[in-house]
Amino acid sequence: MDRILIRGGNRLSGRIAISGAKNAALTLMPCALLTDEPLTLRNLPRLADVDSFGHLLNQLGVSTMVEGAHPTDFGRVMTMRAARLTSTVAPYDIVRKMRASILVLGPLLGRMGEATVSLPGGCAIGNRPIDLHLKALDSMGAEIEIAAGYVKATAPGGRLKGGRVSFPVVSVGATENAVMAAVTAQGTTVIENAAREPEIVDLCNLLTAMGAVIDGVGTETLTIEGRDRLHGATYQVMPDRIEAGSYACAAAITHGALELFGARANDMRATLAALSEAGITVEERPRSVYIEASNGIAPLTLSTAPYPGFATDMQAQFMAMLTRANGASVLTETIFENRYMHVPELARMGADIQVRGHAAVVRGVDRLVGAPVMATDLRASMSLILAGLAADGETQVNRVYHLDRGYERLEEKLQGVGADIERVGDG
Ligand code: UD1
Repeated sequence: MDRILIRGGNRLSGRIAISGAKNAALTLMPCALLTDEPLTLRNLPRLADVDSFGHLLNQLGVSTMVEGAHPTDFGRVMTMRAARLTSTVAPYDIVRKMRASILVLGPLLGRMGEATVSLPGGCAIGNRPIDLHLKALDSMGAEIEIAAGYVKATAPGGRLKGGRVSFPVVSVGATENAVMAAVTAQGTTVIENAAREPEIVDLCNLLTAMGAVIDGVGTETLTIEGRDRLHGATYQVMPDRIEAGSYACAAAITHGALELFGARANDMRATLAALSEAGITVEERPRSVYIEASNGIAPLTLSTAPYPGFATDMQAQFMAMLTRANGASVLTETIFENRYMHVPELARMGADIQVRGHAAVVRGVDRLVGAPVMATDLRASMSLILAGLAADGETQVNRVYHLDRGYERLEEKLQGVGADIERVGDG
């Protein structure tokens, strides 16, 4: 299994091109199921999760064709066509590898009147149930059965009916499934307490380009008028705000200066505000965000929250950065119950972190020391890369497949701005 070796201590400087957003890609791709015409996505990141989603679509009968990058993009172009679906089942083998597979449930049900998806089960960062996804589909008239580890949803008469969906807590995935189910339902659907993440705006924009009628995009109430059919479209995936935020932390922890090319400041206000509060210079430029750290890192008090709050997907990277702050920070995780798996690994590199329930107290230390470490999820892995960039000596990050799920060409991008980092095979 591959590992990443980092010899820490280099100050990063230069320009990093931000890739298309993983979490947007994973909700835009299933939209191909909603039409028999081709859907072309540009700026798709080269990531294991995107490949897995492509395979899942293939299993359902969708053809996928990947071309190289569009001249103005960094990522790939994929054309998907669901002329005729041959299966309505998302099997265990794929769903267990990638939780986002659950996002075929809404569009499959919309297009075919039935869908069977393996229950995703637990994952490293918590229990992550799908009750809210099912509640939304139930509000649109779906009949739902759970048996033998699978959820089977059926639309009586073959078509969902518009309904009122009111979420008790904000869920990104459940909002996405509800939106994708509602766009071809009969009648109007109102979704209350919808998630407002930029990836959901991206989803609504694509669906609108496919002929859907959605009101309230970007707000907590979405009103969707169902259409008999949607058509194909060509659409560019938004830039990855979490990747951009991660590299901003890399600039900060190495006292460096990075221009995050293609990053959209408007999508990452909470991250940028937190960086500014930590004393990091943040400059918004027309096509990039520039980050410079020259005066050390001030401690922060941060709590994760649904968008527009501080993203749970940035918590681990900020924790790594704050291990080098001038004082004590308090981070509170409110979204996932078990998202501090990186704490013991950071501690092995010399970090001083105490977890009490949902809160973590991070006391800045003078130095981190390289060590062999491993992580259990994507963002936790990135926090170890960040710590490694600032640590004295060599850090070896194991289980690189987590990083390959969500960071496109990580080593290449970091090498390009002066990091001493390489991937080594087992050999
Ligand atoms: C998405 C993102 C993930 C991010 C998360 C929160 C993708 C592919 N993943 O995950 O990177 O960390 O949003 O911003 O876009 N919940 C329920 N029942 C449900 C669904 C969710 O109780 O049916 C709970 C979850 O356990 C969690 C909270 O709601 O505590 C938020 O989860 P949710 O927003 O659904 O996260 P995902 O869509 O899985």
